[in-house]
Amino acid sequence: MASITIRQLDEALKKRLRLRAARSGRSVEDEVRTILREAADATGEENLEAFTPPGRAAAPGRAAAAPAKAARVLLIIGGGIAAYKSLDLIRRLKERRFSVRCVLTKAAKHFVTPLSAGAILGEPAFTDLFDPASEFDVGHIPLARECDLVVVAPATADLMAKMAGGHADDLATAALLATGAKILLAPAMNPHMWANKATQRNLAQLVADGVALVGPNEGEMAEAGERGPGRMAEPLEIAAAVEKLLAASETQPLKGRRVLVTAGPTHEPIDPVRYIANRSSGKQGHAIAAAAAQAGAEVMLVSGPVNLPDPPGVKVIKVESARQMLDAVQKALPVDVAIFAAAVADWRVADASAQKLKKQPGQTTPELPLVENPDILSTIAHRKTQRPTLVIGFAAETENVAANAKAKLARKGCDWILANDVSPQTGIMGGDRNTIELVTGSGVEPWPPQTKEAVATMLVSRIAAALNGARA
Ligand code: C5P
Repeated sequence: MASITIRQLDEALKKRLRLRAARSGRSVEDEVRTILREAADATGEENLEAFTPPGRAAAPGRAAAAPAKAARVLLIIGGGIAAYKSLDLIRRLKERRFSVRCVLTKAAKHFVTPLSAGAILGEPAFTDLFDPASEFDVGHIPLARECDLVVVAPATADLMAKMAGGHADDLATAALLATGAKILLAPAMNPHMWANKATQRNLAQLVADGVALVGPNEGEMAEAGERGPGRMAEPLEIAAAVEKLLAASETQPLKGRRVLVTAGPTHEPIDPVRYIANRSSGKQGHAIAAAAAQAGAEVMLVSGPVNLPDPPGVKVIKVESARQMLDAVQKALPVDVAIFAAAVADWRVADASAQKLKKQPGQTTPELPLVENPDILSTIAHRKTQRPTLVIGFAAETENVAANAKAKLARKGCDWILANDVSPQTGIMGGDRNTIELVTGSGVEPWPPQTKEAVATMLVSRIAAALNGARA
């Protein structure tokens, strides 16, 4: 019979054994005996699974024993008194069969220890960016990428400020900056810190960046006599929010796709104070950008001047003229899908005056010769390189809607056109509803009259079907 000396095992394995032993309240030797007994008793492969080092793939022959696609949660514990609840949160997440990895900030280690977090996790918790052991084992980029959701609990005022500012000076903030996964914050702080304008500014920025929130709740603070909003949500509430977000991410058909949308009118200068514009409100383009972001896409919205809030989770690039819009669109490439919903002015004043044009006594009315603007849709659709997989235009017509749209599809070289009747009696220009006919290479499909948001949702699901079908 072979004899095994624990002291001669490699350091990483010894560390894991110590954690397992601490968790089950046994000595390391007893833990090893238990593991061996379980392995010897095992009738199937299941128990051997316990030997697969976390974060590494199981051996090919054991692949079938791996748990069925457990969603992966990266939990970042910030430095606040509520950190103790995050240990329970780990347990709640594991109960729900999520695969959980955990990072403790430097401040968090004043409240809970990596050993206690690791004992509940069943694998070591991560701490420092420059810890050679954790960087060698996993590293902040894989930690950030190999997860389906990042949960920050407690999200302290300081951690939120760092996130809003894009800092990356420790493992937690570097992972937060590098992740493409959705982020859920469970803020916890004193009510005065929560109400502070700086915190509220950072919060608004994070929400605009697409970060989700659970809590904070109202109630007693750790500080005697203090109460108000600032208590971290309870672990069960956070676990429920995690479940909801992960369920939603399964219905994110555009996850991993880059989508570009143009929206709004353009303003073409006549002189520094006057311009040529049109009645476009930008509502349809903004709704499409919001729906694409909701479907998990990375969305860039190039918008002319509009009176609309930026859609959450969307990168908004504000422009005025058609030429600025073309420039911003080209800079946003490569993308998978480009949707041109902007009402771009066809012409601009040939020589916009650098000074305000003045009425002079006896002078004739000024002439304003016009030149054609670049056609952004056609330029992108005819690109030889970096042409998006799907190029979609709009055709705002006042007569012969479908026929004109079909001709436009061919002329502009795009894949689909959403045609709509913008005669004044339809109320579409600037209104909240839209009636679309989808014109593709294979025909014309009338859509029912519906809100601009519903049009956006319908378009996004058509795009997802086309892209995901094409990928299969
Ligand atoms: O030619 P027309 O203006 O009717 O075409 C409408 C479509 O072309 C819309 O998708 C609009 O966003 C796009 N377009 C453009 N650049 C222009 C004119 C129109 O991208 N200069």
